[in-house]
Amino acid sequence: MTQPSDKALVPFVSVDNMMRLVHHIGIEQMLIEIAGYIEDDFKRWELFDKTPRVASHSDVGVIELMPTSDGEAYGFKYVNGHPKNTSEGLQTVTAFGLLADVYTGYPVLLTEMTLLTALRTAATSAMAAKYLAPKGATTMAMIGNGAQSEFQTLAMKAIVGITEVRLYDTDKAATEKCARNLAGMGVSVVKCATPEEAMHGAQILTTCTADKKNATILSDNMVGAGVHINAIGGDCPGKTELAAGILERADVFVEFPEQTRIEGEIQQMAEDFPVTELWEVITGAKTGRRDDKQITLFDGVGFAIEDFSALRYVRDRVKGTEFADMLDMLADPDDPRDLFGMLQRSKVAA
Ligand SMILES: NC(=O)c1ccc[n+]([C@@H]2O[C@H](COP(=O)([O-])OP(=O)(O)OC[C@H]3O[C@@H](n4cnc5c(N)ncnc54)[C@H](O)[C@@H]3O)[C@@H](O)[C@H]2O)c1
Repeated sequence: MTQPSDKALVPFVSVDNMMRLVHHIGIEQMLIEIAGYIEDDFKRWELFDKTPRVASHSDVGVIELMPTSDGEAYGFKYVNGHPKNTSEGLQTVTAFGLLADVYTGYPVLLTEMTLLTALRTAATSAMAAKYLAPKGATTMAMIGNGAQSEFQTLAMKAIVGITEVRLYDTDKAATEKCARNLAGMGVSVVKCATPEEAMHGAQILTTCTADKKNATILSDNMVGAGVHINAIGGDCPGKTELAAGILERADVFVEFPEQTRIEGEIQQMAEDFPVTELWEVITGAKTGRRDDKQITLFDGVGFAIEDFSALRYVRDRVKGTEFADMLDMLADPDDPRDLFGMLQRSKVAA
């Protein structure tokens, strides 16, 4: 068998290696480091190619491609969202992604992104909360205790400093699972029977539920002054979590308005509904939280630049380690124009 050249080999991070990497670094440390990469990329937001993700909807879910480039590297993520999947023993969200060198167009990393999406989503939420939540926030209500919930909690602990999480899910088994997973992780966990109970005393309200419809996870009368809402679950056309009245009372912060107006909570509002782009708060161009009474809302739908940051992070972190396998992924003949000859020679060698 002919051996592939070095350039044909692309580092590949399997799910197994991603899990080993997380344990090697420590999950909270990794969340902090990914948030750092995302924050750096939000500071140079203007130089990225930006486009709403390319979505293919079906009756049961959505499959999306999320591309972006900073001119030196190009990245994309493949991700699905299928709320019915858990009832069939499958995950709601799965993903993988690729980073390429813009100069040659050659891929430089292929990686699982199901775990990485949970990490980057939580890191993004916590980065937003660092700028928007009331100073000294200690308590978070976590509504929706599915796959993302532990990641959200640990990121808010590591980056914002919360010490208590109050869990609520319509499915008690999900709350039990989340509480079990968070036991001994340094955050006090309270299991709640209603969303109101979960919100009691919380300065940060995270909604991370999955349903393919316009749901009302939080109604207007449930939300008091001064809180920060981290709304993550509404991320598709026709899929929202908050009553419109909350949006009217809140200052709304978004990733990329062109995408959020299609997919986020603000799809319920008029096209010119005022929003602030989060990157401008991070660069200091716009104000985030201005007073104790203000309701801040991060209408997070997940944007390609966050995945790009996560891909950059993994590329840097696995370089020269055993956390990547080299994948024979690119046909790279010695004579670049002799692709056919390479194929023919392999027949002789086989
Ligand atoms: N914004 C982003 O960047 C981003 C990233 C990843 C996932 N998501 C979205 O976040 C959501 C959650 O993802 P997941 O992987 O944790 O899903 P999941 O299916 O594992 O968990 C969702 C949980 O929500 C619960 N739930 C449904 N309706 C509820 C209600 N009315 N009140 C309380 N709980 C309710 C379900 O019982 C389930 O336990 C999905 O909609 C997904 O598309 C967003």
